[in-house]
Amino acid sequence: MDYQSQYKRAISDPRGFWQEQARKLPWYTFPETILSDTAGRDEWFADGQMNTCYMALDHHVKHGRGDQLALIYDSPVTGTKQSFTYQDLLNEVSQFAGALKQKGVEKGDRVVIYMPMIPQAAIAMLACARLGAIHSVVFGGFAPRELAVRIDDAKPDVIVTASCGIEVDRVIAYKPLVDEAIRLASHSVNHCIVYQREQVSATLDATRDSDWCDVTQHAQPAACTSVNATDPLYILYTSGTTGKPKGVVRDNGGHAVALNFSLSAIYNIKPGDVFWAASDVGWVVGHSYIIYGPLIYGATTIMYEGKPVKTPDAGAFWRVIEEYKVNVIFAAPTAFRAIRKEDPDGKKINAQALSSLRAVYMAGERLDPATYDWTREHTGKPVIDHWWQTETGWPICANPVGIEAFNTKPGSSTLPVPGFNVQVLDESGNTLPAGEQGAIAIRLPLPPGCLPTIWQDDERFKASYLSRYDGYYCSGDGGYKDNDGYVFIMGRTDDVINVAGHRLSTGEMEEVLAAHPAVAECTVIGVADSMKGQVPLGMVLLKDGAAIDEATLEAELIAMVRDAIGPVASFKQAIVVPRLPKTRSGKILRKVLRQMVSNEPLNVPSTIDDPQAIDDVKQCMRKKGVIS
Ligand code: COA
Ligand code: AMP
Repeated sequence: MDYQSQYKRAISDPRGFWQEQARKLPWYTFPETILSDTAGRDEWFADGQMNTCYMALDHHVKHGRGDQLALIYDSPVTGTKQSFTYQDLLNEVSQFAGALKQKGVEKGDRVVIYMPMIPQAAIAMLACARLGAIHSVVFGGFAPRELAVRIDDAKPDVIVTASCGIEVDRVIAYKPLVDEAIRLASHSVNHCIVYQREQVSATLDATRDSDWCDVTQHAQPAACTSVNATDPLYILYTSGTTGKPKGVVRDNGGHAVALNFSLSAIYNIKPGDVFWAASDVGWVVGHSYIIYGPLIYGATTIMYEGKPVKTPDAGAFWRVIEEYKVNVIFAAPTAFRAIRKEDPDGKKINAQALSSLRAVYMAGERLDPATYDWTREHTGKPVIDHWWQTETGWPICANPVGIEAFNTKPGSSTLPVPGFNVQVLDESGNTLPAGEQGAIAIRLPLPPGCLPTIWQDDERFKASYLSRYDGYYCSGDGGYKDNDGYVFIMGRTDDVINVAGHRLSTGEMEEVLAAHPAVAECTVIGVADSMKGQVPLGMVLLKDGAAIDEATLEAELIAMVRDAIGPVASFKQAIVVPRLPKTRSGKILRKVLRQMVSNEPLNVPSTIDDPQAIDDVKQCMRKKGVIS
């Protein structure tokens, strides 16, 4: 069936469309109810019984894939390479699930995972899925305070961690960070399982901590626990507009069905192919396309513990593609910008060595035409920009090459994927004609795989996503469709920024800056960066009489953000301004500031309190070199 027919069918008959997709998976009990409504929320496959780990591992082993490679670990930072067949991975996961069980973990319990990109992270996630427990992976670049916030929200029984992570050549001891987070959290954590890496040996507290190898050795392998399709598989915290991250919930059934569909429809992958998402398990890309998607689909996935550059050089990605005969790579545009910067002429690319590669997929931030062109030209492969979010868990817009390949247009993530009724709305919720820019919204119901709610906060879920436009999910992104229906995502309409493909909240950074004793008021906006896409810029107003020079203040603010949020925030610049442009009611005009730094025409509202503030801020920005 061609794209248009599939797209229309998924919109006009979502039950029929997704029932057919669901049939491709091995359920314990196939759902009779495909789409239903619980307390005003749509639910998929409510009476289906299944287990995600069973679908990802046991089923494949039972059906002849036991000897096929499931996961390849490649770590240039430690010089390690390791392969796991489906049978190997099943053994490891069953054993670790047994260890978790021994610690008392049961269906519905939460387990926080704070791990670097090592196979044990995948094993821990799948082991939770096996038990019906809910994992919450926290990215290693977040500081203890961020980890503590997530511990307090998810209330885990167990934390799984490793003794260290490695950032290029810098070893970062994780255990002291976890200890600090546990100390900061109000929720008390009873068990911490630590995978000891040879680079650092973590000190264990005998009353709470155990060594991964010890507990695994003495465990009985655990079988899969049957769960309802609507039971949560994981919680993944993502930045919202406030300081408190949102615990995006992912269910088991809809997630499996959606990912399985996407592997063929969007990535055009066949079981047995090699799929490489060069991301981190701490992000949604890692969940969907390093772990669950490729494994449920029966492909081979790659876990790469390294960077696109410096581990050891800009040829790293091409080496991995050649060595493992990767068929599809997926990474953030920032990774390719980093490679291009070090190897502008693509000298490290040997087109012949990339013969296995069919396409390069990019997402996580806007794909700028220069990066698109460079990658296409130097790899000779199609470059596919696709748009999605932590909330949706899989692509909303893409070139659905597995169904029908379309011509791409630079700057566009092509067409809505079947299941996503994407509309561009004006302020009042009217659909805008082609070419006009507005808020990108998705008509309900969302397809399977998208967030059913925010962890233990239905109200926030509805307020954040469903209340803005009646009958729609509001994406938080702005953009437009052209006459051919191609979707162009132009950027966030809220206070979320994208730094090196990492989603961050400026509101959260503002909370940190505001805590400095010399700061009276502040704001943080994203400014364009040629490598990271965006980086945060702090603007602060000093308290009357504050005696601190600007350089010292900037250094202190940088240290505070690094301490509170983590190095991943990449907060490296702050300027002192005499005042901030505000409305008469005192609201900071962030949109005007954003327009200022991107050299766009300023839409200054008539409600501005003091127009002179704009010139003052411009002057400070010029002095700092933020604008010319
Ligand atoms: N644990 C601890 N620290 C981490 C970390 C982790 N898992 N990940 C990043 N950090 C640190 C980095 O060491 C760096 O610290 P520094 O300020 O002391 O140098 C800081 O957080 C910022 O990291 P990053 O944004 O990754 O910048 P970088 O300069 O180290 O690398 C790129 C730049 C472009 C190479 C890198 O950002 C990259 O590969 N991006 C791809 C992003 C991606 O995969 N996104 C997922 C969505 S698809
Ligand atoms: P995350 O939840 O971390 O995946 O970030 C989601 C956000 O990243 C989206 O809301 C967009 O703002 C941005 N984003 C992701 N993919 C794209 C893309 N292909 N083009 C433009 N922006 C994107």
